Amino acid sequence: MFLILIPRRIFLLLAAANIEAQQKPPINIRAKCLGNIMRVDVGPLGGSLLDVAVIINNTAIVVTPSIAAQCGFSMKSDSFGNALIYISLQNCFAQNVDDELFTTALQLRLQGNQFSQEEVYQVAETCQYDVWASREVICDYNYMEVSVKRATPEDFPLCPLVSDMQKRSMDAGFKATTIVFFTPEGKKPMSLLAAQQRGYGIGNTPTRLVLRSPMIAPETFMQTVNLSTALHIPKLKLVFFTQSTITWYLPWQMDPMTSSGQFNLLEVHFGINGQKLDAVEMQAREYSVALNDFYIVTELPIGGVGGYYESHIQGDLYYVSYMIEPMLELLWTEDATHEQTRYKVFFHITTHLLPQPLELIDNTVPGEKMFRMTLGHFAADVALMNITFPAEVLSMPDCSARGFNILEHMSPNTSLKVFTLQVPFADPAVLQQTGEGVTVYSLHLTFGLLILDQLVSFSHKAYLEAVVQDIVPPSVSGGCDNHNFYVLVKYGSPGYNFQTMVGKRYMTPSLAQHYDSMENGTHFSFVVPFSAPDVAVEAIEASSTRSRLDIVLSNPETNSQIQELSVACNFPSTLTECFPNGTMTALALKLESVPLLNPSQLTLADPSCGPVHSDDRYAFFVFTVNSCGTTRKFMTNVMLYENEISLPDELLMKKSPTSEEPEYYLKISCFYDINTSQTVAFNTRLRRSEPYAENSKGQLQVVMRLALDDSYSAFQNYEEYPLAKYLQQPLYFEVELLKSANPLISLELENCWATQGKDRTSQPRWDLIINGCPNPADPYQVVFHPVWTDARVGYPSHFKRFEIQTFAFQNDILILQLFVHCDIVICDSKNPLGGICGGQCSNPKQTTKGEMDDFSFGVYGFEYVSLGPIRLNL
Ligand SMILES: *[C@@H]1O[C@H](CO)[C@@H](O)[C@H](O)[C@H]1NC(C)=O
Ligand SMILES: *[C@@H]1O[C@H](CO)[C@@H](O)[C@H](O)[C@H]1NC(C)=O
Ligand SMILES: *[C@@H]1O[C@H](CO)[C@@H](O)[C@H](O)[C@H]1NC(C)=O
Ligand SMILES: *[C@@H]1O[C@H](CO)[C@@H](O)[C@H](O)[C@H]1NC(C)=O
Ligand SMILES: *[C@@H]1O[C@H](CO)[C@@H](O)[C@H](O)[C@H]1NC(C)=O
Ligand SMILES: *[C@@H]1O[C@H](CO)[C@@H](O)[C@H](O)[C@H]1NC(C)=O
Ligand SMILES: *[C@@H]1O[C@H](CO)[C@@H](O)[C@H](O)[C@H]1NC(C)=O
Repeated sequence: MFLILIPRRIFLLLAAANIEAQQKPPINIRAKCLGNIMRVDVGPLGGSLLDVAVIINNTAIVVTPSIAAQCGFSMKSDSFGNALIYISLQNCFAQNVDDELFTTALQLRLQGNQFSQEEVYQVAETCQYDVWASREVICDYNYMEVSVKRATPEDFPLCPLVSDMQKRSMDAGFKATTIVFFTPEGKKPMSLLAAQQRGYGIGNTPTRLVLRSPMIAPETFMQTVNLSTALHIPKLKLVFFTQSTITWYLPWQMDPMTSSGQFNLLEVHFGINGQKLDAVEMQAREYSVALNDFYIVTELPIGGVGGYYESHIQGDLYYVSYMIEPMLELLWTEDATHEQTRYKVFFHITTHLLPQPLELIDNTVPGEKMFRMTLGHFAADVALMNITFPAEVLSMPDCSARGFNILEHMSPNTSLKVFTLQVPFADPAVLQQTGEGVTVYSLHLTFGLLILDQLVSFSHKAYLEAVVQDIVPPSVSGGCDNHNFYVLVKYGSPGYNFQTMVGKRYMTPSLAQHYDSMENGTHFSFVVPFSAPDVAVEAIEASSTRSRLDIVLSNPETNSQIQELSVACNFPSTLTECFPNGTMTALALKLESVPLLNPSQLTLADPSCGPVHSDDRYAFFVFTVNSCGTTRKFMTNVMLYENEISLPDELLMKKSPTSEEPEYYLKISCFYDINTSQTVAFNTRLRRSEPYAENSKGQLQVVMRLALDDSYSAFQNYEEYPLAKYLQQPLYFEVELLKSANPLISLELENCWATQGKDRTSQPRWDLIINGCPNPADPYQVVFHPVWTDARVGYPSHFKRFEIQTFAFQNDILILQLFVHCDIVICDSKNPLGGICGGQCSNPKQTTKGEMDDFSFGVYGFEYVSLGPIRLNL
């Protein structure tokens, strides 16, 4: 009986036991008939010991190594833990029916290891084989067998046996009682019993004689023999290796078997593990068999599927050797005798050690946050036992519990395997170091490996490192100048997707182009004019517009906001334009605070004046300063025209009372310079020594004087200021346009008023003349005095005279002094266009606000004068 320690090949003897086997098939047992042998495949054994016994006459006979050699058994195992039992059909225990049917029954006993129970199996196989050649030779490792056709069925013919290492012969023609071995020392006769006791197997079947010799027998020697009946096994078996190929030379001119005469090689078959392969299979496996004058040359790729690797450690380095069991079967006829010889050689080839440097391939994709590695390549007989990390050693079950995914893979079309391992970055065994926008993950490990059948340990150290860019979200910054918003978006980490919203719109390629977007790999920028539709107008001020641009970066999948930026800036703006010809234009922008406003409904103070064009963001108005309810005021050096833009009252009233929206109200104004030359004005004033009379300027100079009485012949001297007057004492004013000899222009008083302070705009203020007419609210109305030509008056139209009652101020606070101011219009009397220029208070109706002016810009100019102080005494 063999006992095999799987996967190591150790033959042990064990006693056969119980024949009643339980049929339980956790392992796979198959028997195959392969010509004159059969093969039983058992496996995988998974570490169990296999005992083989033969069952004959209901008794199990343990197949010991010597019985095996004597009786035609041999067993091999591969590194996958499979056992192959080769059995000669003519084994000692075969039930032979007419040399055609051969039945062999085996009992297989698996000696359980600590994980499994003892298991017993029976397998019986009947093989049919009826194509016996005259001579059939089997050269196995364990034995050598010759089967020859008996000349006379009653007799034991001579049967010589020859192998490459030995030769035997047997006398024939007599009753077989003796075997004579031819040795270099001479003939060595031996009785059959003695021969059997020395390990030879001798069998006698109905038609054949079988002699079997163990490989190692005392009579074994190497010799070339030339007995005509002897079989010859070649003296030479040559095997050569290259990196990738095994070449096996088998001499086929087999003296003396073939030397005695002409012979004819009929068939050559190649096989693996006893099984013949056909041409297609051989080609697929890249095996080739060629015949030359002397040899059958077989080429086998190293690493092919028919063989297997074994591991070796030498000096800490890993090696493998490749093993394969090719078989050649030859059939030839001798021309002289027409006898056929079938010759079957099993050959076990083991390459020398092939360096197989271990390699750890780092397949880590940092984004997966996991180390992935492949360690290889190993023969199948290597097991990964444990992994040593800096802080601990983990066995394979520990690794699984820890979430490391460890797998074994056969590598494609070699018989080598690799281990793959995954270790999450989050595992404590992984070291982390952060800095400069990256995190470096590193892993030191040592693989503890074991060659199973040799129980040899070895290890492989590895270090892996992965650099992960820290996830940085995109960011946005911005600013503005007088015209534009400038936005700079910095991309986040690679692959950090985001979308950009400008105002209420998503940034599309066309919008980006519209906003002059530029991109340089790390940033993109764009420029949004303050008047762009994506900009919100927060407020409109006198000379600027306060606008705001909102930028939102968000995640396109979740729509969650990554960053928001609002830039608000004041842009100098001339939304109102004033043209010298009296045209005003105004752009009313919709404000963010009045989202429901429809700009097309806005009007000027006169609700009949609507925008000339509008859209949902603005309304544009064009009008002249004498229309649409524009008001006018004279101020120091300037004339101020004002209007306002709002919703007309009827729309305001319609507005829902619950509306939170404020009312839209935009005041627009134009200033027109009155003075044309300030310098001249000062000179004039100084020359005339009128310290408090701020005359109007330019070529048109106007003065105001205080007459002593209503004859307007004598005037208050300038030296007498401040004048002291008594309340209710009338004051007689005269206003004259100086330095003009043009009879066609006239001086008109538009507004006159009195103030307590010197500043014409100061309060309180008492209106004396409004739009050329006496203040109707004043009970002591101004009285105009006509002007006639006289010695002093060349052109009466250049003068205006009026009288005021000082008690007009009585009802108010006690006034101690007064200044009197007038806005003056110089009219072109050639071109009397009505209004003030139509004559002093010629059309009092027009003084109501809102339709005050049909005053034309064909006027000559505007002036103003002031006079004072006048002391008022009670
Ligand atoms: C088996 O039994 C038969 C008859 O019962 C006997 O002739 C034969 O020798 C036995 N074989 C062995 C191997 O014991
Ligand atoms: C074998 O044959 C050769 C000639 O072929 C002969 O010289 C030699 O003596 C023979 N040897 C034996 C042992 O008969
Ligand atoms: C495996 O087989 C494929 C296809 O036959 C071949 O291209 C490849 O090189 C082979 N790989 C190895 C390692 O031999
Ligand atoms: C790890 O496995 C190797 C190989 O089998 C072995 O030599 C070593 O003792 C094991 N280490 C530990 C700590 O178990
Ligand atoms: C891209 O533009 C930004 C802003 O102008 C600048 O800071 C950055 O250095 C530029 N990057 C490259 C790669 O030129
Ligand atoms: C006033 O001047 C502006 C600008 O020059 C011009 O567009 C407009 O038509 C003029 N208006 C009139 C009434 O002449
Ligand atoms: C009008 O007078 C003001 C203030 O005195 C001065 O700043 C301005 O330049 C003058 N305008 C002209 C056109 O002379």
